[in-house]
Amino acid sequence: MFLDDRHLTRRRLLAGASFVLGLGLLPAAAAKKTAKSRDRADEPSSGTALPIPALVDLTPGTPYELVAQPALHAFRRDLPVDVVGYGGTYMGPVLRMRRGDTVAVRVVNRLARPTNVHWHGLLVEGHVDGGTSPILEPGASWEASLAVDQPAATLWYHAHVHGSTTQDVHDGLAGMLIVEDGVAQTLGLPSTWGVDDLPLILQDRDFDDMGRPVLPPLTGNLEHGFRGHTPIVNGVADATARVPGRRVRLRLLNASGARTHRLVFDDRRPFHLIASDDGYLPAPIELAFLPLAPGERAEILVDFASGPAALLTEPDAHEHRAGGSVALLPDVLEAPARLVAFEPQRDQTNSHPVPKALVPLPDLPESTLGIPRRRFELRVSPGLTAAGGVAGHDHSGHGAMAMHAATPSPPPRLTINGRSFDMGRIDEQVKLGTTEIWEIVSPDMAHPFHLHGAHFRVLSEDGGRPKLWNGGMKDTVQVENSAELLITFTRKADASAPFVYHCHLLEHEDGGMMGAFTVA
Ligand code: C2O
Ligand code: CU
Repeated sequence: MFLDDRHLTRRRLLAGASFVLGLGLLPAAAAKKTAKSRDRADEPSSGTALPIPALVDLTPGTPYELVAQPALHAFRRDLPVDVVGYGGTYMGPVLRMRRGDTVAVRVVNRLARPTNVHWHGLLVEGHVDGGTSPILEPGASWEASLAVDQPAATLWYHAHVHGSTTQDVHDGLAGMLIVEDGVAQTLGLPSTWGVDDLPLILQDRDFDDMGRPVLPPLTGNLEHGFRGHTPIVNGVADATARVPGRRVRLRLLNASGARTHRLVFDDRRPFHLIASDDGYLPAPIELAFLPLAPGERAEILVDFASGPAALLTEPDAHEHRAGGSVALLPDVLEAPARLVAFEPQRDQTNSHPVPKALVPLPDLPESTLGIPRRRFELRVSPGLTAAGGVAGHDHSGHGAMAMHAATPSPPPRLTINGRSFDMGRIDEQVKLGTTEIWEIVSPDMAHPFHLHGAHFRVLSEDGGRPKLWNGGMKDTVQVENSAELLITFTRKADASAPFVYHCHLLEHEDGGMMGAFTVA
């Protein structure tokens, strides 16, 4: 719809090529390595035992205190370093809420920096959404009353101070949030926390010699975003998890700033996708590969009856396009890297079957004629040089090197419809209760588009049908070239605390690729 056929064909070829390349690079010995005998009964044979964040059930009544505070944490074995998080850990507990409940959370800031908390994917009104206001100064606190009314899903929460979200999430200000509605039990899905229902929060870091994660200054990473050499899961590198030797449910959350996690198992075993961002799919989808962009979630069922396997993240080469030229920028990862090695244990419980059907989705409209549309163009434009000229894009494939060149290029301009985010400006006004189609266009590169306060269905991607894994309810979607999103707005937000839409590549968000909207 937005592109000529030649472009589409080339893109398909490109995607296919990287897929095959990934196959060739898979370490065939990885699965065997994890089967090595263990020295100690409670220690995995290699790597670090995957930590499982505490599960906290929020119930109506006394507010739950979510305290943002410093903590000590070891990303790599025996190298504890200073981090931040909620409640004294790197990141925070998994907060579980039941549909129909109204729960209160008191966010307390015991950090030296201003902070706030946004409930990503939770359908609540603007004044408790935490996306723009209030900002809590050190020592301050804020109580949010959250009326939970949406289907079961794996969501998350994270700091959302404009301009410092990249650093804050990197440092640990993020956690998982789960909405439950009883459907998992009805469907017979694995639901024992930390046993056959595992949260996997995926990130990537670079570490110094002391084991401290290092994030280069934002300004140097505005165009491409930071990608680390070391994948971490639930805060640890080289994670190993003991699992029962049967079907297990994994709740995947991409909490990386810029990396799209391109997920495969080392033995290419298929798995079943059962839920995307905001709930179950109508039926499980069998896949052997799943890309998860920053901010996205997915729930999958994996069978460990057939032996050990490692979940890998494939190199995230990303495309930049400018003035008819296209460059494929290589990732810092040269080969698929391990996220978690799973070690199945013998287990008496019968394996949970893969349900035939899950939860039906509402019908899509037969025609989109007459549905109001808005168009959003996400741009990464060359910055202006001191002389007033336009700087060229860095297409050398060596972004970091170019950054240290004698004449550094000015930072790119990150805009939506030609404007960078302005806290004092309302960009769009939406009528409460309406359904609209938002056309998202990303001419320069792929952007994970996200909006607050509403969920959507993907109607089309790049002028064609949505990708297999984008058919369900979503709040974040990787827009390669273009996408049409069908959005119903059911939660209010006024100009004092508007919702925002933005790119979830955190450097782009901080750099201004964001807009504000009211719903009334
Ligand atoms: Cu996950 Cu506006 O954020
Ligand atoms: Cu972006």
